[in-house]
Amino acid sequence: MSTSFTPVTDEIAAYIESLFSAEDDFLRQLRREAEQAGMPPIHISGAQGAVLQVLLRAIGAERVLEIGSLGGYSAITMARALPPSGKVVCLEINPAYCAFIERQAARAGLADRIEVRCGPAAELLAAMPEEPLFDAAFIDADKPNYPRYLEACYPRVRIGGLVIADNTLAWGHIAESDPSFEPANVRALQQYNRAVAAHPGLRAALIPSGDGMTVAVKIG
Ligand code: DHB
Ligand code: MG
Repeated sequence: MSTSFTPVTDEIAAYIESLFSAEDDFLRQLRREAEQAGMPPIHISGAQGAVLQVLLRAIGAERVLEIGSLGGYSAITMARALPPSGKVVCLEINPAYCAFIERQAARAGLADRIEVRCGPAAELLAAMPEEPLFDAAFIDADKPNYPRYLEACYPRVRIGGLVIADNTLAWGHIAESDPSFEPANVRALQQYNRAVAAHPGLRAALIPSGDGMTVAVKIG
Protein backbone atom coordinates (compact mmCIF):
# COMPACT_ATOMS: atom_id res chain seq x y z
CA MET A 1 0.00 0.00 0.00
CA SER A 2 1.32 3.42 -0.86
CA THR A 3 0.51 6.15 1.62
CA SER A 4 1.11 9.85 1.62
CA PHE A 5 0.68 11.77 4.83
CA THR A 6 1.34 15.41 5.63
CA PRO A 7 1.49 16.22 9.36
CA VAL A 8 -0.32 19.46 10.21
CA THR A 9 2.50 21.52 11.74
CA ASP A 10 1.80 24.78 13.56
CA GLU A 11 2.93 26.61 10.42
CA ILE A 12 0.50 24.68 8.21
CA ALA A 13 -2.32 25.13 10.74
CA ALA A 14 -1.67 28.89 10.70
CA TYR A 15 -1.67 28.82 6.89
CA ILE A 16 -5.04 27.02 6.82
CA GLU A 17 -6.44 29.42 9.43
CA SER A 18 -5.24 32.43 7.39
CA LEU A 19 -7.05 31.33 4.25
CA PHE A 20 -9.99 29.17 5.36
CA SER A 21 -11.41 30.55 8.59
CA ALA A 22 -15.02 31.34 9.43
CA GLU A 23 -13.87 33.63 12.25
CA ASP A 24 -14.63 37.34 11.88
CA ASP A 25 -14.40 40.28 14.30
CA PHE A 26 -17.68 39.25 15.93
CA LEU A 27 -16.47 35.74 16.71
CA ARG A 28 -13.05 37.03 17.84
CA GLN A 29 -14.87 39.26 20.32
CA LEU A 30 -17.11 36.37 21.42
CA ARG A 31 -13.98 34.31 22.11
CA ARG A 32 -12.56 37.15 24.27
CA GLU A 33 -15.83 37.72 26.15
CA ALA A 34 -16.20 34.01 26.80
CA GLU A 35 -12.75 33.88 28.35
CA GLN A 36 -13.51 37.00 30.43
CA ALA A 37 -16.70 35.26 31.59
CA GLY A 38 -14.58 32.39 32.89
CA MET A 39 -15.28 29.82 30.19
CA PRO A 40 -12.46 27.43 29.25
CA PRO A 41 -10.80 28.46 25.94
CA ILE A 42 -12.01 25.38 24.10
CA HIS A 43 -14.21 26.74 21.32
CA ILE A 44 -13.61 25.31 17.85
CA SER A 45 -11.07 27.06 15.62
CA GLY A 46 -12.01 29.36 12.77
CA ALA A 47 -10.82 26.71 10.31
CA GLN A 48 -13.10 24.14 11.96
CA GLY A 49 -15.91 26.65 11.64
CA ALA A 50 -15.21 26.82 7.91
CA VAL A 51 -15.40 23.02 7.68
CA LEU A 52 -18.75 23.04 9.47
CA GLN A 53 -20.12 25.78 7.21
CA VAL A 54 -19.02 23.95 4.05
CA LEU A 55 -20.60 20.70 5.24
CA LEU A 56 -23.89 22.36 6.24
CA ARG A 57 -24.17 24.30 2.99
CA ALA A 58 -23.26 21.20 0.96
CA ILE A 59 -26.27 19.32 2.34
CA GLY A 60 -28.60 22.35 2.34
CA ALA A 61 -29.03 22.10 6.10
CA GLU A 62 -31.85 23.99 7.80
CA ARG A 63 -32.08 22.32 11.21
CA VAL A 64 -29.00 21.57 13.29
CA LEU A 65 -28.74 19.99 16.73
CA GLU A 66 -25.75 20.97 18.84
CA ILE A 67 -24.83 18.97 21.92
CA GLY A 68 -22.63 21.09 24.19
CA SER A 69 -22.58 24.74 23.15
CA LEU A 70 -20.21 26.47 25.63
CA GLY A 71 -20.34 30.16 24.59
CA GLY A 72 -22.18 29.73 21.30
CA TYR A 73 -19.16 30.17 19.02
CA SER A 74 -19.90 27.07 16.93
CA ALA A 75 -23.67 27.60 17.12
CA ILE A 76 -23.36 31.10 15.65
CA THR A 77 -20.86 29.83 13.06
CA MET A 78 -23.30 27.11 11.99
CA ALA A 79 -26.38 29.38 12.11
CA ARG A 80 -24.65 31.66 9.61
CA ALA A 81 -24.54 28.76 7.12
CA LEU A 82 -28.31 28.20 7.33
CA PRO A 83 -31.11 29.95 5.43
CA PRO A 84 -33.10 32.59 7.38
CA SER A 85 -35.70 29.95 8.25
CA GLY A 86 -32.98 27.70 9.71
CA LYS A 87 -32.47 26.77 13.34
CA VAL A 88 -29.64 25.59 15.55
CA VAL A 89 -30.99 23.90 18.68
CA CYS A 90 -28.32 24.16 21.38
CA LEU A 91 -28.25 21.74 24.31
CA GLU A 92 -26.09 23.24 27.08
CA ILE A 93 -25.86 22.11 30.70
CA ASN A 94 -24.50 25.31 32.29
CA PRO A 95 -27.22 27.96 32.95
CA ALA A 96 -24.69 30.84 32.89
CA TYR A 97 -23.42 29.61 29.52
CA CYS A 98 -27.01 29.36 28.26
CA ALA A 99 -27.63 33.03 29.14
CA PHE A 100 -24.31 34.00 27.52
CA ILE A 101 -25.25 32.18 24.28
CA GLU A 102 -28.63 33.90 24.17
CA ARG A 103 -26.97 37.32 24.58
CA GLN A 104 -24.45 36.56 21.85
CA ALA A 105 -27.12 35.21 19.49
CA ALA A 106 -29.09 38.46 19.93
CA ARG A 107 -25.92 40.53 19.40
CA ALA A 108 -25.28 38.52 16.20
CA GLY A 109 -28.83 39.21 14.95
CA LEU A 110 -29.46 35.46 15.06
CA ALA A 111 -31.87 35.19 17.99
CA ASP A 112 -34.48 33.63 15.70
CA ARG A 113 -32.02 31.05 14.36
CA ILE A 114 -30.59 29.88 17.70
CA GLU A 115 -32.66 28.10 20.32
CA VAL A 116 -30.99 27.32 23.63
CA ARG A 117 -32.22 24.45 25.80
CA CYS A 118 -30.59 24.38 29.19
CA GLY A 119 -29.95 21.08 30.97
CA PRO A 120 -28.10 17.78 30.76
CA ALA A 121 -28.05 16.77 27.09
CA ALA A 122 -28.86 13.12 27.83
CA GLU A 123 -32.09 14.17 29.56
CA LEU A 124 -33.01 16.78 26.95
CA LEU A 125 -32.43 14.24 24.17
CA ALA A 126 -34.52 11.58 25.91
CA ALA A 127 -37.40 14.07 26.20
CA MET A 128 -37.07 15.28 22.60
CA PRO A 129 -39.66 14.04 20.11
CA GLU A 130 -38.21 12.01 17.23
CA GLU A 131 -39.61 14.53 14.73
CA PRO A 132 -39.01 16.94 13.14
CA LEU A 133 -35.71 15.42 12.08
CA PHE A 134 -32.46 17.37 11.98
CA ASP A 135 -30.19 17.79 8.95
CA ALA A 136 -27.11 17.59 11.12
CA ALA A 137 -25.95 17.05 14.68
CA PHE A 138 -22.72 18.41 16.15
CA ILE A 139 -21.47 16.66 19.28
CA ASP A 140 -19.01 18.71 21.37
CA ALA A 141 -19.95 18.01 24.98
CA ASP A 142 -18.68 15.77 27.82
CA LYS A 143 -16.57 13.08 26.19
CA PRO A 144 -17.65 10.03 28.28
CA ASN A 145 -21.18 10.44 26.92
CA TYR A 146 -20.18 10.70 23.24
CA PRO A 147 -21.22 7.08 22.46
CA ARG A 148 -24.61 7.72 24.10
CA TYR A 149 -25.04 10.98 22.19
CA LEU A 150 -24.36 9.11 18.96
CA GLU A 151 -27.17 6.66 19.70
CA ALA A 152 -29.52 9.52 20.63
CA CYS A 153 -28.65 11.60 17.55
CA TYR A 154 -28.80 8.83 14.97
CA PRO A 155 -32.61 8.44 14.92
CA ARG A 156 -33.08 12.23 14.94
CA VAL A 157 -31.01 12.92 11.80
CA ARG A 158 -32.48 12.47 8.32
CA ILE A 159 -31.05 10.11 5.72
CA GLY A 160 -28.31 12.10 3.97
CA GLY A 161 -27.82 14.15 7.12
CA LEU A 162 -24.63 14.39 9.16
CA VAL A 163 -23.46 13.45 12.63
CA ILE A 164 -20.27 15.40 13.37
CA ALA A 165 -18.18 15.13 16.54
CA ASP A 166 -15.37 17.37 17.79
CA ASN A 167 -12.15 16.27 19.54
CA THR A 168 -11.99 12.88 17.87
CA LEU A 169 -8.18 13.04 17.83
CA ALA A 170 -8.41 13.23 21.64
CA TRP A 171 -5.79 16.00 22.05
CA GLY A 172 -3.36 13.89 20.04
CA HIS A 173 -3.82 10.72 22.12
CA ILE A 174 -6.47 8.91 20.06
CA ALA A 175 -4.11 6.22 18.70
CA GLU A 176 -2.68 5.19 22.11
CA SER A 177 -3.63 1.73 23.35
CA ASP A 178 -3.01 2.62 27.00
CA PRO A 179 -3.54 6.37 27.30
CA SER A 180 -2.24 8.09 30.43
CA PHE A 181 -3.55 11.57 29.55
CA GLU A 182 -7.24 11.90 30.50
CA PRO A 183 -7.69 8.14 29.99
CA ALA A 184 -11.46 8.09 30.55
CA ASN A 185 -12.01 10.81 27.95
CA VAL A 186 -9.53 9.34 25.46
CA ARG A 187 -11.07 5.86 25.80
CA ALA A 188 -14.57 7.30 25.28
CA LEU A 189 -13.43 9.09 22.12
CA GLN A 190 -11.81 5.85 20.89
CA GLN A 191 -15.08 4.06 21.57
CA TYR A 192 -16.98 6.80 19.72
CA ASN A 193 -14.79 6.51 16.62
CA ARG A 194 -15.09 2.71 16.64
CA ALA A 195 -18.88 2.93 17.00
CA VAL A 196 -19.21 5.39 14.12
CA ALA A 197 -16.85 3.37 11.91
CA ALA A 198 -18.79 0.15 12.55
CA HIS A 199 -22.31 1.66 12.37
CA PRO A 200 -24.20 0.08 9.48
CA GLY A 201 -26.32 3.20 9.00
CA LEU A 202 -23.40 5.61 8.75
CA ARG A 203 -20.45 6.23 6.44
CA ALA A 204 -17.78 8.24 8.15
CA ALA A 205 -14.43 9.96 7.80
CA LEU A 206 -12.16 11.67 10.29
CA ILE A 207 -11.12 15.16 9.21
CA PRO A 208 -7.92 16.21 11.03
CA SER A 209 -9.01 19.82 11.51
CA GLY A 210 -8.45 21.32 14.95
CA ASP A 211 -8.51 18.39 17.39
CA GLY A 212 -10.21 16.21 14.79
CA MET A 213 -13.78 16.02 13.56
CA THR A 214 -15.40 12.69 12.79
CA VAL A 215 -18.02 13.31 10.11
CA ALA A 216 -20.65 10.67 9.39
CA VAL A 217 -23.40 10.73 6.78
CA LYS A 218 -26.55 8.75 7.52
CA ILE A 219 -27.20 6.21 4.75
CA GLY A 220 -29.90 4.10 6.32
C1 DHB B 1 -12.01 20.01 25.96
C2 DHB B 1 -13.27 19.88 25.39
C3 DHB B 1 -13.46 20.26 24.07
O1 DHB B 1 -14.66 20.12 23.47
C4 DHB B 1 -12.42 20.78 23.33
O2 DHB B 1 -12.68 21.11 22.04
C5 DHB B 1 -11.16 20.89 23.88
C6 DHB B 1 -10.96 20.52 25.21
C7 DHB B 1 -11.80 19.60 27.36
O3 DHB B 1 -12.76 19.14 27.99
O4 DHB B 1 -10.68 19.74 27.85
MG1 MG C 1 -14.54 20.44 21.39
